[in-house]
Parts: sequence; C-alpha cells; structure tokens
Amino acid sequence: MWGGRFAGGPSEVMAAINASISFDQRLHVHDIRGSHAHLDMLEATGIVSLPDAATIRGGLDRIEKEIAAGRFVFKPELEDIHMNIEARLAELVGPVAGRLHTARSRNDQVATDFRLWVRDEIDAVDAALTDAQAAFIEKAEAWPDLPMPGFTHLQNGQPVAFGHHMLAYVEMLGRDRGRFADARRRLNESPLGAAALAGTPFPIDRDMTAAALGFDRPAANSMDAVSDRDFALEFLAAGAITALHLSRFAEELVLWTSAQFCFVHLSDAFTTGSSIMPQKRNPDAAELVRAKPGRLLGAFTALATVLKGLPLTYGKDMQEDKEATFEAADSLMLAIAAAAGMARDMKPNKARLRAAAELGHPTATDLADWMVRRRGLPFRDAHRAAGALVAEADRRGLTLAQLPLDAMQAVEAEIDESVYDVLSIEKSIAARTSYGGTAPDNVRRAAAAARERFL
Ligand code: ARG
Repeated sequence: MWGGRFAGGPSEVMAAINASISFDQRLHVHDIRGSHAHLDMLEATGIVSLPDAATIRGGLDRIEKEIAAGRFVFKPELEDIHMNIEARLAELVGPVAGRLHTARSRNDQVATDFRLWVRDEIDAVDAALTDAQAAFIEKAEAWPDLPMPGFTHLQNGQPVAFGHHMLAYVEMLGRDRGRFADARRRLNESPLGAAALAGTPFPIDRDMTAAALGFDRPAANSMDAVSDRDFALEFLAAGAITALHLSRFAEELVLWTSAQFCFVHLSDAFTTGSSIMPQKRNPDAAELVRAKPGRLLGAFTALATVLKGLPLTYGKDMQEDKEATFEAADSLMLAIAAAAGMARDMKPNKARLRAAAELGHPTATDLADWMVRRRGLPFRDAHRAAGALVAEADRRGLTLAQLPLDAMQAVEAEIDESVYDVLSIEKSIAARTSYGGTAPDNVRRAAAAARERFL
C-alpha cells in the first residue's frame, strides 16, 4: 500500500505486532458498509466517474459474498481488514479499485467502522437487557405476594414480597439501558471524511455519508473524529456497570440455591453436576456471571490506559481498542443471556422462603411503628421497648406474634390486643403501601408499570 518509498519488507516481529486482521476481520460488514457510503458520495459529487463507481460497487458486492460464504482469505501480511478488502478489490476489478480510497484514510475508515460496530452492539445489548427485564417482570407477576426475607447486612431485616425483589433488578437494568442509550446518542456522529486528520481538498459531502450510515451528523472536527474513542469507553463503562448488576443477582442465586438457603431451584438447564460428589448441583452459570465484571472493567481499564496521554491525532496504540472491546461485548452478551435464562428458570421454594422470612423477628419494626402510631410513643422509646420484647421472645423461644399479651404489657403497659394485627409476616408486607414499597398491590401495579416503561 505504501510501496512508493519502501523497498524492504517488515521483520517478522514487526508484522506480528502490527497485524490486526486476526481480530478486526470482525469489522468486515461495517467496513464494506462504510465503503459503499463513501463510494456513493464520491460518485454523486463527481469525484469518481459513474462507470468506475459501478465497477467498484460490483467488486465490493463480490467480496461481501465471499466473506459471507467463508471463501475470503484473510491475509496477515495485509495487516488489517481495510487493506485485506482493498487488496482483494484490486484483484477483482483492477487498478480502478484504487479510486475508492480517494479522500479517505484508514484513520477515518477505522473510526467509522468501529463506531458502527459499537452502535450495533449497543442495540443488541439493549434488546438483550429488555428480554432480561421481561424475565424479572414475569417472575414478579407470578409471585407478587410470596413472603421472603428482605436482608440488610445479609441479616433478616424486614419481610418483602418475592416479586418486589425481582422488580429491583428491573430498575437496575432500566438504568443500564439508559446509560447505553446516552452513549449511543453521543456516539452517533460520522468520522468519515475527516480523512487522515485534517480533512480533504476534495469536494466531498460529509452530510451524505453521515446520513447513509445512519449517523445524526458528521463529526465537527476532523482531528477529534479520528482520535476519539470515548464512544468505546462509554460502551465499556456502561457494560461494566451492567455486569456488576448482573453479578449481584448471580451472587444471590449462588446463595439461594445452596442447601443452607434453599430459596430457589435451578433446573438441569442452568446447573452442572460434580465428577466426584453425586449429590451436587452446582450453579456454574451464576458463578460465571458473577465473575464477568472483571472482563468488562479490565477492558475499560485497558482502553483508558491506551488513551491516557496519547497525543492527537491517530496513533497505532489505538489499534488496541478493538480486541478487548470485542471480547468484553461477547462476555456481556453471554452474561445477560445467562442471567435472563436463570431468572426464567428459577423456581422459588415457597415453604422455605416463608419460613426464612419468619426468622430473626423481622416484624420488630412493625411493633415499634404500632407503638408510635397507636400509643403516640416517640420512635426511640418504641424502638427500645420493641428491642426488649425481642429479647423476651428469644428467651421463651417464640416469635413476636406468639408472645402472650401479659408478657408484652410487662415491658410496655400501653400495648393491647390489636398489636397482633401488625406482627405477622403477611401483615407486615401488606402494610408497606408507600410508593415503591413492597405491599403486594404495589408489586402488581409496579410490574404493570414496568411493562409500560420498559417492554
Ligand atoms: N488497523 C488500524 C487500527 O485498527 C487501522 C488504522 C491504521 N491507520 C494507520 N495510519 N496506520 O487502528
């Protein structure tokens, strides 16, 4: 490609460190799409003649078919996807192929290809996250009033409905989708036509190529256009946060499927056995989802480190943007699919959840609230009295609801029979009708609202 002033070839190590075709061949669809947009524009502006454009177009179409059919030979000595396609084009249509690269550089070409790829990936992630949200909403609709423990510090705090817990993930994934959508909005400017870095003297039409590729507008500064990789960083940052959210669900599944919790059951579809311990059913998929954030954070860190202190404009350093991003995107898509699959697969164990919800006097707050609302005690006094009643219940091996009235009154004379109305798990859950709270009617309404907002 630069034969003009090079006589000798690169050393083996030079070729090895320089080549990116092993991974950037993944950009072939976007590279050809970009070339078509550029070619149509060169033709429309009269920079390339109609017959030449037709010839080149035919060549690009053939290459597309060759790649799709697996008949295209990617050559490492041709370095990257751009030169592999350009060289094949020359083989197919002869020297006229060289006109395609008029008013274009690999710098704006790769920036365009990679943006298009990340944009497609954002759309795929959004669809996958929507499906995961649907899975959690379905579970919430199926179990709007099944009691389970609500934890803080992994200690029984207050009982909640299983569906309420499911809808917490719908919110997280909704914000994740928002972050990807924000990133997509900023990403959607076309670098094509920035050429090497300074623009071009040819009378190109950047609005035309931007529109053809679905971009909102051409990027305003040619130097920024070829240097910017924020769009990939934002994609990875949003992906890292998403992976963190999924890892929290995964960790809960690991806990919940253990014999100690036994809150939910995962079928054979999402578990594995042990080669030695016949009784085992291991939540491998959940563990792997739990482990994925490292890859996303790693890719973000790697790319941020590449860009840090890099002088404008393009530097070959930037070729390091793709491999980690591709890999991270694949991991993310798998993690989302596995989380959605497990959310659909898991079956709550009603008896265990109900029994666990009962442990550790989780309606002690309801007891304190009752003393405030019915007897006008200051909350701190009510808190102290409820604490003493918890201790008394423990001494007797009873739940608060089982503690006799005289024992209650010995601690706080103001208490009467009606206190028992608030001490059951079901009553406690049903009472939490504040907006965003766990009352079953809220959960039903929130699930319906989530369908409207997200699906
Ligand atoms: N393979 C290169 C990359 O991924 C394409 C751009 C090369 N540009 C250049 N001036 N060497 O970054």
